[in-house]
Amino acid sequence: MTRGKFITLEGGEGVGKTTNLAFIKDYLERHNISVVVTREPGGTALAEKIRRLLLDTGSEAITEHAELLLVFAARAQHIKHVIEPSLAKGAWVISDRFTDATYAYQGGGRNMRISTIEWLEHLVQGNLKPDLTVLLDAPVEIGLQRAKIRGALDRFEAEKSSFFEHVRRAYLLQAELHPERIKLIKANCPLDDVQRALMDVLRPLLR
Ligand code: TMP
Repeated sequence: MTRGKFITLEGGEGVGKTTNLAFIKDYLERHNISVVVTREPGGTALAEKIRRLLLDTGSEAITEHAELLLVFAARAQHIKHVIEPSLAKGAWVISDRFTDATYAYQGGGRNMRISTIEWLEHLVQGNLKPDLTVLLDAPVEIGLQRAKIRGALDRFEAEKSSFFEHVRRAYLLQAELHPERIKLIKANCPLDDVQRALMDVLRPLLR
């Protein structure tokens, strides 16, 4: 059985991940690929509980270390119970966010040490890396407006716009550091253009 491919979709708030994820799923299925769509934080029962803890605007402030460890705890469950078994069965896994989000939000947004994130990445993932990461990029204000229209803000969405400027910068830096894996797509243009760009980056994986 040929191992499936692992694709992750990244970007700041309100860049259109949901719409484009559905497009990627559809595109791959039209090429007779079996697809598993999942998300982070989340993807398993326990990881979804951790997601609620992370997004909840509860009364007790979550420390940066607790936040980082919760993100990786959820990821450990997700890898073991969903990502690895699906890839081993030959399915392609598309995850709405993965570890680049940790470099962007905890590394960029929270200004946590990159070496700490690298250490946890190695501990939790071993050699697992996405085969392709699509980074949807749009100016922060555009994304935040879209997120606000969607309804009540979660614990991350409620951050200041300077937080998201740092997140965006950290994502762009990740793309610069890993150009072979991370493909940057401008998200503030007509949907047709975004989807054409998506097909361009997916096509080489189909060979
Ligand atoms: P979303 O899936 O609706 O975008 O919400 C997930 C939130 O979690 C988003 O604001 C980014 C945040 N997040 C992190 O801070 N670190 C991570 O590693 C991941 C995967 C998500």
